[in-house]
Amino acid sequence: MTEKTGYTIEVENLTKRYGDLVAVDDISFTVSTGEVFALLGPNGAGKTTTVEIINTIRTPTSGTVTLLGMDVTKKKLDIVRRIGVLPQGFNSFDRITVRETLQYYSRLFSCRNTDIAGLIELVNLEDKANEQYKNLSGGLRQRLGIAIALVNDPEVVFLDEPTTGLDPRARREVWEVLQGLKQKGKTVFLTTHYMEEAELLADTVAIISKGKIIAMDSPAKLIENTTNYLVLTLLSADDNVIEIIRTMGFEPVLDNDKDIKTRVEHIDDVQKILSALKEAGAFYLGLDVRKPNLEEVFLKLTGAAFHNGHVVEREAV
Ligand SMILES: Nc1ncnc2c1ncn2[C@@H]1O[C@H](COP(=O)(O)OP(=O)(O)OP(=O)(O)O)[C@@H](O)[C@H]1O
Ligand SMILES: [Mg+2]
Repeated sequence: MTEKTGYTIEVENLTKRYGDLVAVDDISFTVSTGEVFALLGPNGAGKTTTVEIINTIRTPTSGTVTLLGMDVTKKKLDIVRRIGVLPQGFNSFDRITVRETLQYYSRLFSCRNTDIAGLIELVNLEDKANEQYKNLSGGLRQRLGIAIALVNDPEVVFLDEPTTGLDPRARREVWEVLQGLKQKGKTVFLTTHYMEEAELLADTVAIISKGKIIAMDSPAKLIENTTNYLVLTLLSADDNVIEIIRTMGFEPVLDNDKDIKTRVEHIDDVQKILSALKEAGAFYLGLDVRKPNLEEVFLKLTGAAFHNGHVVEREAV
């Protein structure tokens, strides 16, 4: 933590251009020590560019970034000793084992006393310590990647889309590892396009779209401040249900080709809809009424489409 400000990361008016493209457009934010900070946004939003400027890999076009009290353009060597990085689309040496890989990276960092066994345990790879990288599944590979990012016992860990492409179970296993990092007091900077990941793990979420941060707060506050409605989901409803609800003045949408989601302002509206459906003899398998989640906050703020658990930008809703 910087003595002066109390923040581990301070980003001020950061801009990055690639030719005519403004990939990161004048963003400012801070990350407190020990928090999990998630940069959430769709493909091409500028997440990797932002992360890799903060962790010294890329240079900004303008603006200032301070990490652990140091300017990231001036103190690269001092900074990299104190941070860990899991790059997007991480890969490692095919034919060396989990243990050998960690021993190697530890030497690269000139670390004399890396607790390799402890790291393997932290990422739950005890059973795979002698397995070669090429034989590991996607989730196990990502967990090895996280362990690599920790060989120098960093204060700050950057994880760029640690769970993209993993199946739900493997994703959950990575989440457990990330929760372990937080418990160890690390500051974690995460990028993701999975809403539920940000909602579950992050203390602070910054939503980035087309290079700009359009909202930033705790997941709970983002939901509270952006939305003031309930979502009624009718599972596997009859074909005529959408029409019935529409004629009542609501705007139901079809989700997953079978469920019907409707935003309502008040629980009384739910009652009205259910009564109308009963009267019409319409069938549905079950229902769910809940407060909006980060997914809906994102949709509201960006006008993005949501498919299979991650966001895809679209022009208009
Ligand atoms: N080195 C580069 N040269 C030119 N353009 C780049 C470069 N890196 C990124 N871009 C462009 O900048 C924009 C932001 O890219 P970036 O990789 O930061 O987005 P992202 O949010 O990480 O996306 P993803 O979710 O796909 O990883 C994109 O339009 C991308 O094509
Ligand atoms: Mg990226």
